[in-house]
Amino acid sequence: MHEQANGFEGRSLTVVNDLSVDEQIYLYEKTRELKEAMAKGEDPRRFTIGDPDLGVYLIFLEDSTRTKESFRNAATFHRVKVNDFNVGSSSFNKMESISDTIKMLFGYSGRSIFVIRSRLEGTCRWLEDALGGYAARIGKPAPSFINAGDGKHEHPTQEFLDEFSFLEQQRWNRESIHIALVGDLAHGRTVHSKVDGLRVFAEVHVDLVAPKELALPAHYEHRMVQNGFRVRSFPSIEAYLSQKEVAPIWYFTRLQLERMGEEVLEKAPLLRRAVTFGREFLSLLPEGTRFYHPLPRHREFPEIPSFLDGLPLNAWDLQSINGYYTRIVEIGLLAGKLGADFRGERRVPPAYPDDFVEEVAVTETKPHDYKVGIKPVENGIVIDHIGRGDDIAAIWDHIDKIRQIMKLNYRSSHGVYHSSSNEIYKGIISLPDILSFDETHLKMLAAIAPGCTLNMVKNSRVAKKYRLHMPTRIYNIEAISCKNENCISYPGHFEQVRQEFYRSENGKFVCRFCERPHNFGEIWDL
Ligand code: ASP
Ligand code: CP
Repeated sequence: MHEQANGFEGRSLTVVNDLSVDEQIYLYEKTRELKEAMAKGEDPRRFTIGDPDLGVYLIFLEDSTRTKESFRNAATFHRVKVNDFNVGSSSFNKMESISDTIKMLFGYSGRSIFVIRSRLEGTCRWLEDALGGYAARIGKPAPSFINAGDGKHEHPTQEFLDEFSFLEQQRWNRESIHIALVGDLAHGRTVHSKVDGLRVFAEVHVDLVAPKELALPAHYEHRMVQNGFRVRSFPSIEAYLSQKEVAPIWYFTRLQLERMGEEVLEKAPLLRRAVTFGREFLSLLPEGTRFYHPLPRHREFPEIPSFLDGLPLNAWDLQSINGYYTRIVEIGLLAGKLGADFRGERRVPPAYPDDFVEEVAVTETKPHDYKVGIKPVENGIVIDHIGRGDDIAAIWDHIDKIRQIMKLNYRSSHGVYHSSSNEIYKGIISLPDILSFDETHLKMLAAIAPGCTLNMVKNSRVAKKYRLHMPTRIYNIEAISCKNENCISYPGHFEQVRQEFYRSENGKFVCRFCERPHNFGEIWDL
């Protein structure tokens, strides 16, 4: 990640959390300043980049009206080079990878910002990695990537304009918000970005209104709770309005028909009914209620029917225009034009401490009887306590995995034995020819068999002993892959993405790109 003096230049907006809460608030304050200046007809030059060697590339692999057009208008405002990439007639049709495509475009301008919408989740994160390395090699400033919506993962710049709109509505009061999220919470990326975007408010009450087929995925709800939000769920608008505590801000989302899969799609008409606002509900709304929607609305089956368009609760039309202002500021920040007066806490990139190897005391005094077949190991490594306490089949599976993944094709032996307590089992692999493992192999072993111990045997005695713990990050291993078919790193897309998972606080393995949590067993391909 390349950062210049203003602290924003060269950064990417791949998810909401790429900006700290303070940085998000700064974005809203700058946008307010810009919008007010423009409303007063002031000279906007203090906001304008005016660099013809800065290229803003619009790469939309999925359809869009307002995200694309607001970015195009925002870039035009800045008087920079605007390049509308024609996906339909491009060499994507010749199976070119997205990183090769971007590398080439990156060469056309002194500095570049890529605005990318893709059905593949995590595309911008991957490109930030891939192009960052390439830029360093050729000595150019790294490009910025703006995620304009990636599958059902996130839509951070939509989130920024949504929050800006809520703040305007609440007259910039950030003490609390009570919001109802209504519609397709399962497949709607704008809702997923709310998990982090709503943190600009000190107290957050979220009501989820969706039938179970369209419910917010559990991991997003879990993160909302972790963020301190109060979360309640209702299966329909009718059920929601049958209780007293109704939110004054409603955020509707369209049924994402293109993403929901056959089974749910078949039920769409029925599901839609549960989240479509009817005339009979009007009298049950608290006074001053406002409806928001990222848009587009389905013109035949709108969740917000057109009879509501002329009522004061219509906040969605002005909301969409805010996309123009927030995106001017976003481009201005990443280009280094704005941001010098930011005061506050910066985003802290996540850290992955490498404390997975623990040296433990060697207590035994008599020679150990680790064996290769019938011969004791004189010098070498013995991996002990593999899958300790698991059932025998699981321990054999661990041993197989260790052997295959680490390619331990040496003179050696292995087996499942009673643990010293005799009540439980463990696996052992003896490697008499191996005297040490490098960092990568240690990490692999820790990931495959956390809790195992590594005994370095010298002259038939255990000279050193290490206990391996589950690493906080698993990568650089051939036999792992993300199992989300919509992830940019999914091997079937041939984008050659290096697989990487980090361990979440609740023990899941989260893909670096699409952020889908996996159980430990799921990440392995063997
Ligand atoms: N336009 C928004 C998006 O691209 C919402 C939607 O399409 O329903 O995510
Ligand atoms: N809100 C939004 O992203 O709209 P488009 O899909 O039209 O860009």
